[in-house]
Amino acid sequence: MNKSKNRLRRSGIKIMASLVVLLGSLSYIMVLAVINGSLGFLCAMGVTLFGAVGVAKALGEAVNMSYGFIAAMAVGCGVLRGGLRYIEQYSNHYIAFRLLAVLRDKIFGALRRLCPAKLESKQKGSIIAMITSDIETLEVFYAHTISPICIATVVSLCVFLFVGFVSDFMLALVALMGYITVGIVIPLISSHALKTSGVRYRSEFSSFNAYFLDSIKGIKDIVLNNAGKEREAEVNRRSDKLLDETKKMKRDTAKASAATELAVSLFIFAALAVGTVLVINGALSPGRMIIGVVAVFGSFGPVIAISALPGNLTQTFASGDRVLNLLQEEPAVTPVKNGVRFEYDNLKVTDLSFSYDGEAKILSDICMYAKKGEIIGIIGESGCGKSTFLKLLLRFWQKSGGNIEYNGTDIDRVDSDSLLANVTMVSQTTYLFDDTIEQNLRIANPNATRQQLEEACRLASIYDFIAALPDGFQTGAGTLGDNLSAGEKQRIGLARAFLRGSELILLDEPTSNVDSINEGIILKSLKAQKNKKSIIIVSHRESTMSIADRIYRVREGIMYEQK
Ligand SMILES: Nc1ncnc2c1ncn2[C@@H]1O[C@H](COP(=O)(O)OP(=O)(O)O)[C@@H](O)[C@H]1O
Ligand SMILES: [Mg+2]
Repeated sequence: MNKSKNRLRRSGIKIMASLVVLLGSLSYIMVLAVINGSLGFLCAMGVTLFGAVGVAKALGEAVNMSYGFIAAMAVGCGVLRGGLRYIEQYSNHYIAFRLLAVLRDKIFGALRRLCPAKLESKQKGSIIAMITSDIETLEVFYAHTISPICIATVVSLCVFLFVGFVSDFMLALVALMGYITVGIVIPLISSHALKTSGVRYRSEFSSFNAYFLDSIKGIKDIVLNNAGKEREAEVNRRSDKLLDETKKMKRDTAKASAATELAVSLFIFAALAVGTVLVINGALSPGRMIIGVVAVFGSFGPVIAISALPGNLTQTFASGDRVLNLLQEEPAVTPVKNGVRFEYDNLKVTDLSFSYDGEAKILSDICMYAKKGEIIGIIGESGCGKSTFLKLLLRFWQKSGGNIEYNGTDIDRVDSDSLLANVTMVSQTTYLFDDTIEQNLRIANPNATRQQLEEACRLASIYDFIAALPDGFQTGAGTLGDNLSAGEKQRIGLARAFLRGSELILLDEPTSNVDSINEGIILKSLKAQKNKKSIIIVSHRESTMSIADRIYRVREGIMYEQK
């Protein structure tokens, strides 16, 4: 499981290419940032380089510039560097923040497309990780990885040509070897070492975080069981382990940067040595040698910046891979636009079959029907496919075979909006948003009048409970938190369904999490709807079936009506 999580579906190059494509029109600004960055760097080098030109002139080199002009150029380069730096920083930050917005937009778009079917199987935690840390990692990749690589390439190439033409190509070659060693060879070697320690550090880090959070969430139970000492010891043990991994990673990072510094010094020294030999042999004048060596000396900055990247890069690829997987995932169903609209009168299911993965059949040859005003019960053991059946009635998933007909029209031709207007579902657990009870109800129908709101609550037998709260409908659901029982939550879910005004209400185990008093209350509310609303109620409990007009039993994948 863990292994497949760490393995990437795509190669690093492919991920990089796809990520650049994702940039879209922002790539122009990226190019601007790279040009600015490169020019800025060259300007910074220009300050010392014009100094070297001055020295060369003093040594008798034929330089076609006056001392005053050389000094002015050095100062000009310095000033220009400032301006370019400003533009570079500005465009980098612009890209960074725009990118975060663009990526979030894309991910939310994907979530919307995949919702609800495909999101069931994804852990909510992994989605949260994606919209927070993965996106941040990618932002770092775009703003602080691609552009340094481009800048290093541009600057190195410029310096290579400059040194080659102005000084000597032997010298330029030494510099080029230096760039390749520092910018490519060392990062490649050290990335192997950093990969292992980096992965271990991150897994230790997240395991520590999870354990700590878990402990805080369960603090009540820890205190009740007097288990604080053990927990604390375990937190300390994990903290030490994390520190250990941190040290190992830092050590590997330090080794890599030491190797980089050493290589830079060696190549500068080599350039100086080669230059000296050339001068002694009379192949190069001292002035041109100085200009060349000074240029090489100042040109390693951009490639050193690259050597700091590999630690991030594996993580970036993993993040990029996860985000791309999500963006490219196919939804389980595509919404039907401009399909057949209807007003619920009857439902007829014939020979319905379904499997989640295309192999294991969850449902096969299901036949049933329901008429307006009926309460239909479906009973079967846990795991037999009852919830799946209800989801198919809402077309959350695409059925594999057979028909689901509303008023004689197959569900695949029914307009998706019309379907949701006619059919609603109360699922096993009702989620309450951190908002007032009123707003939690209004999600079902934002335009409902106060009277409709109260009526729906009465029907769901939750009105008295809400009215008795100090702030009534304005009570925050968040402040109630655990004080709201499962039965009360479920009744709010029911009120939502009534408020929604759909003709057909699907109830998935509405009484499974509640005590018998609440079960009685909920069933009574539902029974009062007989002939007013159409209801399909699913449960594994016999007692819940008492209100049904007709009952279907599911056994071993087969559904039959109980006579
Ligand atoms: N999203 C899903 N992907 C794959 N298998 C699923 C999914 N949801 C449910 N299942 C499987 O389908 C079977 C029926 O599940 P479900 O319809 O929830 O049963 P019930 O509601 O009757 O308890 C179970 O074996 C369950 O593990
Ligand atoms: Mg179920």
